[in-house]
Amino acid sequence: QLAKVYVSRRVPQEGVNLLQDSGICEVTQWDFDETVPRSELLKQVAGAHGLFCLLTEKIDKELLDAAGPNLKVISTMSVGHDHLSLDEIKKRGIRVGYTPDVLTDATAELTVALLLATSRRLMEAVAEAKNGGWGTWKPLWMCGYGLSNSTVGIVGLGRIGIAVGQCLKPFGVKKFLYTDFEPKPDIAAQIQAEYVPLDKLAEESDFVTLHCALTPETQGLYNKDLFSKMKKTAVLINTSRGAVVNQEDLYQALTTGQIAAAGMDVTVPEPLPTDHPLFTLKNCVILPHIASATIATRTTMSVLAANNLLSGLRGAPMPKELTL
Ligand code: GLV
Ligand code: GLV
Repeated sequence: QLAKVYVSRRVPQEGVNLLQDSGICEVTQWDFDETVPRSELLKQVAGAHGLFCLLTEKIDKELLDAAGPNLKVISTMSVGHDHLSLDEIKKRGIRVGYTPDVLTDATAELTVALLLATSRRLMEAVAEAKNGGWGTWKPLWMCGYGLSNSTVGIVGLGRIGIAVGQCLKPFGVKKFLYTDFEPKPDIAAQIQAEYVPLDKLAEESDFVTLHCALTPETQGLYNKDLFSKMKKTAVLINTSRGAVVNQEDLYQALTTGQIAAAGMDVTVPEPLPTDHPLFTLKNCVILPHIASATIATRTTMSVLAANNLLSGLRGAPMPKELTL
């Protein structure tokens, strides 16, 4: 008997083909670019053995109850897993696959792009060039902050954090600081990064870049307390999860000159409403959560998520399984 699998979105076809050609499952898919309505999702997961989902789907008690006891595997096409109620999932003996590693380079690359766009004021500069603000070459105009000789603070020295450090090193960064739950001397040695408490990192960094997972410990981690410790010339970059930053405090920090600028690939909520005050600020660059968005990376993520799901259905070890 074929396992029932639900795929909650249109994803790169390579992954779906793998499921369809596996001979072990019958696939139903929400084959649209927009999010599946919650009621449809709850209906479709009923009786499913496997669920292929994205970070936009809340996999909580309600959904797990709607799915029922058949559900054995959840495979999320993301490295982040804050959208999964892991306690509830574990209780039910469900296995979870995710997609670390394959998106590390794309995410690090976008982090650097966002950092440069923010610190060198690219969005403002492009607008000025177009709208007539470019009167002449002006020594004091459109000046930002460069990486050369700077101190970069990495919050969360995991796969992505260290990759960002490696990418930034050739720009002439003087010093890397990092914070994490515990020192990671072997990884840190790759960029001679120094382990410091979070407040010291905030005080001393010219650039702070966030790469921690969203957990109860990191929710609202970056708040007014830390903004008040940062340099007035500092730039904050977030490509992790929006909720790691207290957005009201960020708005305050940006409008009162506590920090120079911020670049956010992630926000609360997503999408951020177009009339949100952060969008009115010249020193805030906001991207629509695109860090892993290269064609190659999204294809690899889809294939990995499919392989995780198939392995789970077969009762075999997954290529990338989350330890619960
Ligand atoms: C993207 O945010 C991901 O978690 O993969
Ligand atoms: C800039 O274009 C310079 O020549 O200094």
